[in-house]
Formats: sequence, structure tokens, C-alpha cells
Amino acid sequence: MRMFGKAGKAAAVAAIAALALTACGRTDSGSSTSTAGGEAFPKDSLIGVALPQKTSENWVLAEKLFNDGLTGAGFKADVQFANGGVSEQQNQISAMVTKGAKVIIVGAIDGAQLGTQLQQAKDSGATVIAYDRLLLNTENVDYYVAYDNFKVGVLQGEALLDGMKAKKASGPYNVELFAGSPDDANAKVFFDGAMSVLKPKIDDGTLKVLSGQTTFEQAVTQGWKAENAQRRADTLLTGSYGTASLDGVLSPNDTLARAVLTSVKAAGKPLPVVTGQDSEVESVKSIIAGEQYSTINKDTRKLVEHAITMVKDLQAGKELEINDKESYKNGVKTVPAFLLPPQIVTAENVKTAYVDDPVLGPITK
Ligand code: BGC
Repeated sequence: MRMFGKAGKAAAVAAIAALALTACGRTDSGSSTSTAGGEAFPKDSLIGVALPQKTSENWVLAEKLFNDGLTGAGFKADVQFANGGVSEQQNQISAMVTKGAKVIIVGAIDGAQLGTQLQQAKDSGATVIAYDRLLLNTENVDYYVAYDNFKVGVLQGEALLDGMKAKKASGPYNVELFAGSPDDANAKVFFDGAMSVLKPKIDDGTLKVLSGQTTFEQAVTQGWKAENAQRRADTLLTGSYGTASLDGVLSPNDTLARAVLTSVKAAGKPLPVVTGQDSEVESVKSIIAGEQYSTINKDTRKLVEHAITMVKDLQAGKELEINDKESYKNGVKTVPAFLLPPQIVTAENVKTAYVDDPVLGPITK
């Protein structure tokens, strides 16, 4: 079903304004960057893509895919990482606005810290698409494209229970909970999705969290950094698992899953069931080797492809395809979203999950 958000209309109005401006420019300068009937902006316009830090392989893959895909479609691409942090990302977005980007795609480090730059983008007539991570507390985000983050968490919670049950038919099971970086809007959504499955089991005594750390604030991992997760795992093991066994760990992604496994190995404990996300090469190997229990397949190619489809539709003056108009409330508005379905991967389906993946598949062993 196709649904069209209010922001779609706003973007259309902005597009018409941009069209009028471009038409004026053409008369004055004879520029070759003209628009044809119905087009919102010229086909060779600049498109900005602001990516966060390289905290997982998906971001690194996205860089090349955006460069190739946008250039292949005839646009000029300006794809930037902000490894230096929030202020670097702020400067990059301002520079994209100054250079005249017609669409700015943002994978935010901190979705709540870009208000000024997104206002600049809006004032310049650019359309803003939040990519993978939502942009918070701003009117100036038009669309969101991502894998269904809540569903990712649900799948992780279910996998944790399934994995522990396969090892030991009934509880109680001792588990610890890890969450992502609190400045990333996704981290809480992943955690909430997982807790929608795990909380009832904590409440009925099936799951025991020996550290007592069950809130998002207690579980977070600043900057999605492996060393932070490893340090916390070390502390939890020393503090709460002297003689007790640790049966399972909710980990929000693969980088942190491997950090937890490293910590457990160093403590000389049997490996717990550990969840993950992102289908990182080392984690897929670990799943095949029987160490990490699960990951989530969120094919970056499909996500980037859809983001580029949105850019093409905006350029052509078409309404965008939206499949969720309710879930993503950013503090001031509900952002029309296109959500893709994530897939759980364990040793059971690891061979079929990546058959057409150029990096991971086909897995033959
Ligand atoms: C992404 C995850 C990734 C994490 C750390 C999140 O926003 O959705 O796929 O693991 O960032 O890079």
C-alpha cells in the first residue's frame, strides 16, 4: 500500500519553489543544469550524504554504495564520514547546504544535535532524509529510511530465549543486557524491542539478571565502542558471576557481541548465548564456528538502494513511497518512514541467508 505523508506535500511545495528558482537561473545564466517538465531539480544536482563514525561495517559499505549509486544515477555525490564527532558532522552538513545540495541524507552520530544545520538545509530548500538513525527534536526532517529497528530488538530477544532453551530446556537462565550508544536514536528502540520479549520473562522469573542492571541507562555502551562493552562485561563477570553461570547476553550488535565473548573467554567461563546485529564478517564466522549465537541481516545494499530511489523520486517530482506513518515520533513530529524487514540469522540459516551477498555469500562450509 502506498501512503503519502504531510511532509510529502511540504516537499512538493519546496520542490515547486526550487523549480521556479532553477528556471530563473536558467534564463539568467544559460546554465546547463535545467529541469524538464515535472522535475523538482536538475538530474545532475549535488546530493549530500552525512555518515556517522565507522562504528560498524554497514557504514563503511554504505559509503561506497552511495558514491557508486548516486553517481551512476547521474547525480553529484558528496559522501562524508564524521570520525571526528558531532561538530565535524555539523560542519559537513552546513558545507553541503552551502554547496547547494538538493537532498541531504543523514546518518547521525547524535540525532538531537543537528537542529541548526537541518534548519539551514530546510531554509535552502533541500529535502532531508534520515538514514538508518532518526533525527530528533526537529521539524526539518522530511523522511526516514531504515530497517525496522523495533523488530530488530524483538528478533534479538527471541533469539536469546531460543538459543538458551536449545542448550538447557528450562530456566531460570542468568542473562545480562547490553544496549547501544545513548546518543544514537536507534539504541533505545532496539532495547525496547528486545525488552518487549524479555521483560515478561524477567518478571515471571524465567530470566535472572544477577547484576540487577535492567534499565536502558544501565545497559548503554557509549559510542558503540567495543572496549566499553568489554570493560562492562569484565566488571559484571567479576561482580556477579563468581560461581554462577552466565547463560545469555543481549548484545545489540556484532561488534559488541564479539567484545562480550572476548571478555567471557578471558574470564575462563563457558560461552553464553550472545545475540548481535549487522552480519559483520567476523561474527558470521563466529556463528559458523558455534560461538556467537545470532546476528541480524540488514542488507546495506537494499537500504542504500531505497534511499537513492527516494532521491530519484524527489528529483522527478514524484510522491515518495512510505510504509509507516505512525511509528517514528521524533519529539516534534511523526516522520514518514520507509521501513525494510530485518532477518534473524543463526547457525541454522546462515548458509541460505547470504546466498546473493557479494561479501558474505555463498557460504559453502
Ligand atoms: C545501526 C546498527 C549499528 C550501530 C553501530 C546503528 O544505528 O542501526 O546497525 O550496529 O548503529 O554502528
